[in-house]
Amino acid sequence: MEDNTIDPELESNKIAEDDDTFQHINNPIVGIKPIIKKYLGVPNHADQIGNKFFLTDGEAKVEITVVTDQIIRVRLAPHGVFLEEFSYGVPKLVQKATAFTLFENDTEFRVSTGVINCHIRKADFFISFSDSNDNVTSTDAVPMHWEENVAFGGYYVFCTKTCGPKESFFGLGDKPTELNLRGKRFVNWNTDAYSFQWNQDPIYRTIPFYISINEGISHGIFFDNTYKSHFDFGSEEKNKTSFWADGGELQYYYIHGPHMMDVVKNYHILTGTHPMPPLWAFGYHQCRWSYYPEAKVTKIAKTFREQKIPCDAIYLDIDYMDGYRCFTWNKKYFPDPKKMVKELAADGFKTVVIIDPGIRVDDNYWVFKEGKEKRYFCRRSDDYFMEGHVWPGRCQFPDFTNPEVREWWGGLFEGLVETGVAGVWNDMNEPAVFGTGSFPDDVRHQYDGHRGSHRKAHNVYGMQMVRSTYEGLRTIMKNKRPFTITRAGYSGVQRYSSVWTGDNVATWEHLKLGNVQLQRLSMSGISFCGTDIGGFSGEPDGELFTRWIQLGTFAPFMRAHSAGDTKEREPWSFGEPYTSINRKFIELRYKLIPYLYSTFWEHHRYGFPILRPLVMQEQIESDNYFRQDEFTYGDKILICPVLEPGQKSRKVYLPTGKWYNFWTLEVVEGGKEVEVLTPLETIPIFVKAGSVIPEYPVMQYVGEKEIEEVKLNVYYSDYVANSFFFEDYGETFAYEQDIYSEKKFAVDGNKTSFSIQQSLEGLYTPRYETYSFTVSGLPFKPSKITIDGKAFKDFAVNADKILEFKYSKNFKKIEISK
Ligand code: GLC
Repeated sequence: MEDNTIDPELESNKIAEDDDTFQHINNPIVGIKPIIKKYLGVPNHADQIGNKFFLTDGEAKVEITVVTDQIIRVRLAPHGVFLEEFSYGVPKLVQKATAFTLFENDTEFRVSTGVINCHIRKADFFISFSDSNDNVTSTDAVPMHWEENVAFGGYYVFCTKTCGPKESFFGLGDKPTELNLRGKRFVNWNTDAYSFQWNQDPIYRTIPFYISINEGISHGIFFDNTYKSHFDFGSEEKNKTSFWADGGELQYYYIHGPHMMDVVKNYHILTGTHPMPPLWAFGYHQCRWSYYPEAKVTKIAKTFREQKIPCDAIYLDIDYMDGYRCFTWNKKYFPDPKKMVKELAADGFKTVVIIDPGIRVDDNYWVFKEGKEKRYFCRRSDDYFMEGHVWPGRCQFPDFTNPEVREWWGGLFEGLVETGVAGVWNDMNEPAVFGTGSFPDDVRHQYDGHRGSHRKAHNVYGMQMVRSTYEGLRTIMKNKRPFTITRAGYSGVQRYSSVWTGDNVATWEHLKLGNVQLQRLSMSGISFCGTDIGGFSGEPDGELFTRWIQLGTFAPFMRAHSAGDTKEREPWSFGEPYTSINRKFIELRYKLIPYLYSTFWEHHRYGFPILRPLVMQEQIESDNYFRQDEFTYGDKILICPVLEPGQKSRKVYLPTGKWYNFWTLEVVEGGKEVEVLTPLETIPIFVKAGSVIPEYPVMQYVGEKEIEEVKLNVYYSDYVANSFFFEDYGETFAYEQDIYSEKKFAVDGNKTSFSIQQSLEGLYTPRYETYSFTVSGLPFKPSKITIDGKAFKDFAVNADKILEFKYSKNFKKIEISK
């Protein structure tokens, strides 16, 4: 792949505007006239139109848009003409700022919301941001600049900001490297990265969004540019952070914190959140390349039930198709797919099938014929079809950036849905092409009417494929929630799909990597994520597989997957003690589904990430900028996976506050590291004091039985703490009409009493009537309980000093005293 990486800030690259030097190193076309880097000059005045402010230096124009009180967008038009407003990342830019003003003095123009200021320095067009306490959070190190692209037209665009001595950086999606990105440089170009390695770059996704933390204050930059983009976090020059792209507009959003959580929430305001998935999607999923023929699939399903290991979904990889032709079945392996899928469903299994974008060139194949007739396949600059080899052989590829093509593709799922398929796995959508890697740059795309070459569309191709799949399924399935998974994506892909981290390897290093990637994806907007549990290629031993199941239990998306040339890889494949431990963890997954579902709701509704690295929990503690093994699952449960073979114990840092060891219920004071035993049967799990964690009974699959009682695990605290519990039908979009129940629990305690209060929002009423309570950690022997003002006698304290009782789900206030 041509690499146009250039060093934006090397002294050698700095050329005065009138400097006509021939720049060989940056010139993609040898022998063509010079590429000259130009910098913004001096802003001479500022105009305001609504929430937009325009400044020019004569020719170049800068637009400053106030989006919300915390978000300001900056755009640059080198020759004064902005591109049309269009973004796959930010579908709707709604102005929500309460107030904004323009101020001018001798040295600067300043656009202010109540919360942040954007300063444009008169001397040199430097742009900086500050908060209302005059803390400068981000500032240009040189003015924004650009280079003409003689080969394709348009510009390479650059922005360089200062980098504080201790500034740290997070985000950027799925980069397989340390969580803290300081000192590193990256490129975004969606790439099929089979067996990728630590520090390999780029891999499958493009999420040009980073979160900075400097002097305790956090801000984010979302560089909404779909071309090949680059980020440098103090790598080339310690005191500079740069981002640049090989085309498109210099367009970035400054997103203020001051807390990292605020930055991530605000990023979700721009790019959206994942709609609620069907409840079954939170169960355990079993995948392999490939389960076939039918007898193999049914045997796997049967073994799950015999082994009493819960499982909700079985995946069919490419071999279910006829010659890898999408939307067909291999009738030799699967003579009656509808019957098989129905039988699987009767036993509680959802069938998820893979779909690839490459459509076999074959005039006897209806999908190809239709696509060809309608001219829906991508074409090169001279109108030849874009052809490349993938699984089916010679293929052409739909242009998913064309809304008409998306609608057509979405409709193709009708047959699969009719067969009973419940979910679609979108693969190879970087797009991947054997031999060449991907499409050549000159392939043309409709780009929703904003036409462009593959340079512009490459990084959004996969996202538009899964969008088309999701939207198609949503139409066909009427009011039922579709389930989709994708490999490639661009910022905002979370609006359409879950993602997995791609073709990892069965090594301990990859277990570590997966742990970091999941946290990174989660803080980069993609909360519904998982790894191939066990590693896709290579052979894990029982210990590695079990440790991976333990991590996977707390991945928002939990799926085991393996390549076809590996040994069998089901939770029972390694014998004892592994099978029992795998079962215990998968059961724990099912018990915690109501907690995960509630946490997902927080993501969907409020933009909170599901997995939160310690730095998001406690950004005041600078050691947390480098802690990457642990994370919290939602905000109540802290998980520290075991990432080394044979590990008997490990250090765990607990943020300040009180924590309960999940297994022993011992209360540990946080703000320090503790040594925790890590026998194979457990990993360190801690629950924050004051939490109320809802628990469902273990089932072999979601919805196996009617839930008759929900357990509420209450953890005493001597301060006020809030938890919440979301429920709804679990498979329709009725929640969009407020048909859900969001219960809030508030607990408070002191040395002699403890109270639990419940309040309710929403219109959904679950069918169970009773809660069964366990209250751990009471510092006194409870002798009196009052519920909603009435004395309640039917309680007991068990051998572990846990208070137990049952009561109606409609309680308002429970008071427990000495
Ligand atoms: C790709 C996918 C992998 C899948 C295989 C065959 O390598 O990443 O998950 O099993 O293709 O479809």
